[in-house]
Amino acid sequence: MIGRLNHVAIAVPDLEAGARPYRGVLGAFVSAPQALPEHGVTVIFVELPNTRIELLEPLGDKSPIAGFLKKNPAGGMHHICYEVDDILAARDVLKNSGVRVLGSGEPVIGAHGKPVLFLHPKDFCGTLIEIEQA
Ligand code: CO
Repeated sequence: MIGRLNHVAIAVPDLEAGARPYRGVLGAFVSAPQALPEHGVTVIFVELPNTRIELLEPLGDKSPIAGFLKKNPAGGMHHICYEVDDILAARDVLKNSGVRVLGSGEPVIGAHGKPVLFLHPKDFCGTLIEIEQA
């Protein structure tokens, strides 16, 4: 069921400061900041040969990463995203095996315009998991 690693998301208090080492010493291609008000974040994409890193900075009052940054003021790994072919089929298999799907359980359109779901960190060794229909 599980496909490619789509991205690793890192919450940061300051996007430019977070992007600096990737753009500088590591020599990665780093996108311009992109505000995604409907997701409550501004994002910078760091392109790697086999995946990408997304740096997330809170945007607005109800950012979903605000609480995380309160607990982790210097920033930290927020979630990882795996691709699946069929998100509804994946959801049903996961649910039937006892994995907790967050929110309403219905896929929402994620930051890349594709349907996504989040899975409870307690079911994945403390790591928030996003699945995206690739
Ligand atoms: Co993500």
